[in-house]
Amino acid sequence: VKPENNCIVIFGASGDLTHRKLIPAFYHLYANGLLSEKFAILGVSRTEYSDQAFRDKLKAALEASEKVDEATLDAFCQHLHYQALNTSDVEDYAKLKHRLDDLGQQNDTQGNTTFYLATPPSLYSVIPECLAAHGLNDESQGWKRLIVEKPFGYDLASAEVLDEKLHQHFKEHQIYRIDHYLGKETVQNLLVFRFANGMFEPLWNRNFIDYVEITAAEFLGVEERGGYYDGAGAVRDMFQNHLLQVLSMVAMEPPAAINADSMRDEVVKVMNSFQPLSESDLHNNLVLGQYTASDVRGDHLPGYREEQGVADDSRTETYVGLKMFIDNWRWSGVPFYVRTGKRLPTRVTEVVIHFKKTPHPMFSANAPKNKLIIRIQPDEGILMRFGLKKPGAGFESKEVSMDFHYESLEETNMLTAYERLLLDSMKGDATLFARSDAVTACWKYVQPILEYKENPEHLYGYAAGTWGPKEADTLLANDQREWRFPC
Ligand code: BG6
Repeated sequence: VKPENNCIVIFGASGDLTHRKLIPAFYHLYANGLLSEKFAILGVSRTEYSDQAFRDKLKAALEASEKVDEATLDAFCQHLHYQALNTSDVEDYAKLKHRLDDLGQQNDTQGNTTFYLATPPSLYSVIPECLAAHGLNDESQGWKRLIVEKPFGYDLASAEVLDEKLHQHFKEHQIYRIDHYLGKETVQNLLVFRFANGMFEPLWNRNFIDYVEITAAEFLGVEERGGYYDGAGAVRDMFQNHLLQVLSMVAMEPPAAINADSMRDEVVKVMNSFQPLSESDLHNNLVLGQYTASDVRGDHLPGYREEQGVADDSRTETYVGLKMFIDNWRWSGVPFYVRTGKRLPTRVTEVVIHFKKTPHPMFSANAPKNKLIIRIQPDEGILMRFGLKKPGAGFESKEVSMDFHYESLEETNMLTAYERLLLDSMKGDATLFARSDAVTACWKYVQPILEYKENPEHLYGYAAGTWGPKEADTLLANDQREWRFPC
């Protein structure tokens, strides 16, 4: 089913996100015939452009970054429009309203409008207020939806303030908080894998699972985003949102149905069961690290403090590793080891489920334990590791693999995370968007880490291109375990 005719207003239209993610996503949706019959995309920012100049700029960016079909691209560009606006000046929004009325009529949108906030976070509460002053939040004629990019707040208090401000002008059902990890095909597959397979579901609990690892590693450093990142760090940038969302998909109870309310009720329930971090957890179960300069495969990689926009004496973490627990019936006592970092050896996101040993070791004492590896990206797939008898005399066992790769499916036309989420929002499906209570629950959980990291007792260095500080290995070694190093 295609979305209804609608207008999409992108605030922050001259910014990086619009060029790199949003416009390519809209283009692919369009090229695959997934958008509504009629639609208009209206870019908004302070810079003056004509419609044509805006189209030319985005067209050139698309041609440079994608394989495009020229005729399709030209047709797509006809849907792009531009309005210069002083986003902090409420009076100026009269221009936007006027433009939307015109575009609405031309495209028979019945007033259906999505407002996408791809701006610096300082504008997240200003724009909705200005929209409301011109009645652009009013759903008496067509739906009005607000998509909010991360970071959704800076800590618990600021997230609550932002939420309150948004709720003054938009109702919760109108607000779509993007966490692009939820749009990833393989993150959604966690649900199908868990709840559609009688063979795994009964084992998915403390009786059979020994521990769980979640890794989101990136090879890239902070690139041009040092200014933002130095104020955020890995805890805010990746852990509080993406990793805790993925963890919730691994750990949640089965929802009554796959719809926004049932799904998000279960997500919040498990988030509210994260065992609060005590002082001793912060000292013993948390490892913060920062990358230092190193030569990797003949390239010199600068240290974090040498990156553009980063303070020379920065104490911001680019790595976080944490051992955490979930206090509920299913997971009591099962450690979840979660880590993310920049400048690790490779880009990989995966979940590893480690199963317990059989009760009585009949063969060799060091027989392998079963592992299920769910690769979120790249090379999306599922890998099962288990023991087999080594051919020959005796009963020696050996670890072998069963490996499924998504690319072997015939239907390989996977939507990217942004494509999926933009489409869902235009269809009014909020299942894969973070609800207000989930965002709050995650901030509440990480708040002690935020306070601790202001003045951490230890911030360990690690050479760029390695798997983080060795203290993160000790975190598992203390429990006679080790990380999987997926290279
Ligand atoms: C973003 C973070 O949310 O996610 C970036 O701000 C990070 O720092 C990115 O690089 C990772 O996303 P992906 O989809 O490449 O894993």
